[in-house]
Amino acid sequence: MDKLRITGGRPLNGEVTISGAKNAALPEICAALLTADPVHLNNVPRLRDVATMRLLLDNMGVQTETHGERGGMSFVAPDSLNPEAPYELVKTMRASVLVLGPLLARFGRAKVSLPGGCAIGSRPVDQHIKGLQAMGAEIVVEHGYMVAQLPQGRSRLKGARIATDMVTVTGTENFLMAAALAEGETVLENAAQEPEIPDLAEMLIAMGAKIEGHGTSRIHIQGVDRLHGCTHQVVADRIEAGTFLCAVAATGGDVVLRHGRADHLDAVIDKLRDAGAQIEAGDGFIRVRASGRLKAQSFRTTEYPGFPTDMQAQFMALNCIATGTSKVTETIFENRFMHVNELVRLGAKIQTDGKVAVIEGIDRLQGATVMATDLRASASLVIAGLVAEGETIVDRIYHLDRGYDQMEAKLRGIGADIERIK
Ligand code: UD1
Repeated sequence: MDKLRITGGRPLNGEVTISGAKNAALPEICAALLTADPVHLNNVPRLRDVATMRLLLDNMGVQTETHGERGGMSFVAPDSLNPEAPYELVKTMRASVLVLGPLLARFGRAKVSLPGGCAIGSRPVDQHIKGLQAMGAEIVVEHGYMVAQLPQGRSRLKGARIATDMVTVTGTENFLMAAALAEGETVLENAAQEPEIPDLAEMLIAMGAKIEGHGTSRIHIQGVDRLHGCTHQVVADRIEAGTFLCAVAATGGDVVLRHGRADHLDAVIDKLRDAGAQIEAGDGFIRVRASGRLKAQSFRTTEYPGFPTDMQAQFMALNCIATGTSKVTETIFENRFMHVNELVRLGAKIQTDGKVAVIEGIDRLQGATVMATDLRASASLVIAGLVAEGETIVDRIYHLDRGYDQMEAKLRGIGADIERIK
């Protein structure tokens, strides 16, 4: 199993290119299931989750290809394929549930494994099932699979009003894709507004879908009976950009993030500025400068445009070595503090009580061997390792490879002392 060896204490300086967003690329790959025409994506990040999603589609009978260095990928989903997502693939990536909506909409049936346990909480899919049932799908859960089909005599899903009990990102994406090919109008109330949703909606519109209100909490979709192919550029990864911003804020230095979208990171950038980092942004770049210890910042995670749960662990690493005491409240996922015990191994002073962590900033962390437990937790340990005294080994970095495109190479490029050991 690969590990990272990091020797802390170096400031970061230079330029990093931000990759396409994992959380946009995954639903957009699934959107290729909605048409028999070729679908081309550019700027797809090179990640394990993308490889898993590709394998899932390959397995169904979709022709998939990658092109060139710039993250080009093409898909052709023929009229006849095997609409099944097996447990072996789904268990490694919860986002596999994103095939459910498009398969039902185009093929009228789907068999998708339940995602099963997940390190950051139970993460059920009840809202996905309820919403698709409201659109006329018959879904039963048997032998660990969601088995979905249309009622006899129906060939399409029907439009519906769907109001989910909570804001769900992949749920909203599943409904958008299903509704694009449904009969009549669908209204999504309480829709997620994360930038990956409008990015997917724009792709669907380029395929011929009729969608309004994406980027707000109410989305109207007028179903069409056929979608066509398209070429789409995956939006920049706001969480990757946010992770680099926190890394530079922690180590000090001066870094420009090329292709970074500051307008998708307002909540994080506001906190970093309050902490004392200098951040400038323009068309397609974000520049961050920092020196010395910053001021610790309290925050609570909420849905977009609030502070993203996917940035909680990385900002906490920064708080560990900032001046003052901060309080971090995680409201989206239960059990998303698994990085805390590992940060404590590096000397951090953190107390948790349910969804709240209280962090007392200290002067410096000390290198140690730590274990990555999930994707964003791994990123937080890398940031901690970059500022810790001496050597830090981050074990189980396959979590990091799920969601970061060549993170250690990018960090090395801006001066970090970091290497992958096999
Ligand atoms: C997506 C992101 C993930 C991010 C999360 C929250 C992708 C591929 N993943 O995950 O990186 O951390 O949004 O911003 O885009 N819930 C239910 N029932 C459901 C669906 C969700 O109870 O059917 C709950 C979840 O357990 C969680 C909350 O709703 O507590 C939000 O989850 P959701 O937005 O669905 O997360 P994902 O879409 O899985």
